[in-house]
Amino acid sequence: MRIAVVGIGYVGLVTATGLAAKGHDVTCVDSHPSRVVSTNNGVPPFYEPGLEELLAPVLQEGRLRATTDLHSAVSCADVTFLAVGTPTKDGHIDLTGLRDASEGIGESLAQSDSWHLVVVKSTVVPGTTDTLVRITLEHAAGRKVGTFGLCMNPEFLREGTAVEDFLRPDRIVIGQWDQRSGKTLAELYRPFDCPIVFTALRDAEMIKYASNALLATLISFSNEMADICEATPGTDLDRVMNALYLDRRLSPVIEGRRLSPGILSYLKAGCGYGGSCLPKDVLALRNFASERGLAAPVLDGVMAVNAARPARLVARLEQALGCLEGMVVAVLGLSFKPGSDDMRDSPALGIIDLLCQKSAIVRVFDPCVKQLNGVVSSCPIVPCSSPETLLVGADAALIVTAWPDFRQFDWNTLCMSMRRPVIVDGRNALSGISLPSQATYIGVGKYHFTEESLRNEQCINR
Ligand code: UGA
Repeated sequence: MRIAVVGIGYVGLVTATGLAAKGHDVTCVDSHPSRVVSTNNGVPPFYEPGLEELLAPVLQEGRLRATTDLHSAVSCADVTFLAVGTPTKDGHIDLTGLRDASEGIGESLAQSDSWHLVVVKSTVVPGTTDTLVRITLEHAAGRKVGTFGLCMNPEFLREGTAVEDFLRPDRIVIGQWDQRSGKTLAELYRPFDCPIVFTALRDAEMIKYASNALLATLISFSNEMADICEATPGTDLDRVMNALYLDRRLSPVIEGRRLSPGILSYLKAGCGYGGSCLPKDVLALRNFASERGLAAPVLDGVMAVNAARPARLVARLEQALGCLEGMVVAVLGLSFKPGSDDMRDSPALGIIDLLCQKSAIVRVFDPCVKQLNGVVSSCPIVPCSSPETLLVGADAALIVTAWPDFRQFDWNTLCMSMRRPVIVDGRNALSGISLPSQATYIGVGKYHFTEESLRNEQCINR
């Protein structure tokens, strides 16, 4: 099929490249000429493993191209995907980009009377596709939906594994205005081997929010359990969770073999969730509920637990060092998760801010994030290019992102080079690694004995 994809962002370009790789003819559209140029040159304007490799052959074979000309792209296509960003503005999603793009597509539809399918891929709150998008399209096209098709098709791509997630999806959700629209989109996805769920447009929009809200809930539940374990001598969150995972409802045993479903990776405590999706989507869903006069205490709790993570980790560090003023703190990891250079809503930002407020001297190291310009604005931080320069003379190491690389470091030598070998492991990333006996290791969900904690414990038990 001939496809136009509007928005050369993370979702748009992965979708466009994946569809071209499956044999479709795709034109990407973006109003930023730099994104168009770099796409046509085979260089994705953001880091995503495997994308460049997937892009090269489809460009070479002429199955994908990029342009700033929306009208020519839409008029040559059978299906147009809307994959523009929907950032949060004052707690609500900003639909300006979606409205503008819908208007442009509608103007193109006005120039022909042939049937054309418009598919919303951007994450939008329920009701957006059948109101804002439909009305804008109809107004600009001068004709009613039905003379063109409309679908809502949420994406479930994870940064870092987006290419794999796109090419091997676990489900495709098709919210359809009418059967013709749904059937056409299903036809486009024929090369994919997975269940297709046909729903109403609003269900499709809600499925996306419910999915991300569930992931965030599991993470905040695990983090709350970590806090409780940290306050309870004799408990260790990892031991507790490892036993919890063995519940057959979480890890079924099939033909004598126990499965380890991916969902378990969200039942782990850490520094909290971040990135461009979970924080934004939980907040948008919460506000969506408020607008309907609903309290959403679970979502409120999920956000409150997450917001408290940076302070919690900094407090543990402060407890271990006595005070943070003038202390050299080495932060390991800046991106919101390993395998990505994305720092949007990364817990590292809040942690670094708090360290600065407490007048610590902050050094940072990340295997992938190299550009810090303007990202961490409130204080001077010292970027380091190796673990050695990061840790020499440091008073503490604080692990914020679970990069597997950190496990490979020579921690014996690194600890020896530190002024005080205190490690606060915000992701339990070094779990099971042997550290020198002089090192103080403080993991998440692990009770750490200090004089103060022992005194508190004696008070509680009295
Ligand atoms: C998430 C969803 O997983 C995708 O299904 C969805 O398509 C995407 O949002 C989206 O809406 O576009 P992503 O933001 O790439 O994908 O991140 P995840 O891999 O899900 O991780 C989210 C956050 O949770 C990260 O900050 C990660 O560090 C954190 N996390 C994850 C934890 O804090 N603890 C865990 O146990 C697992």
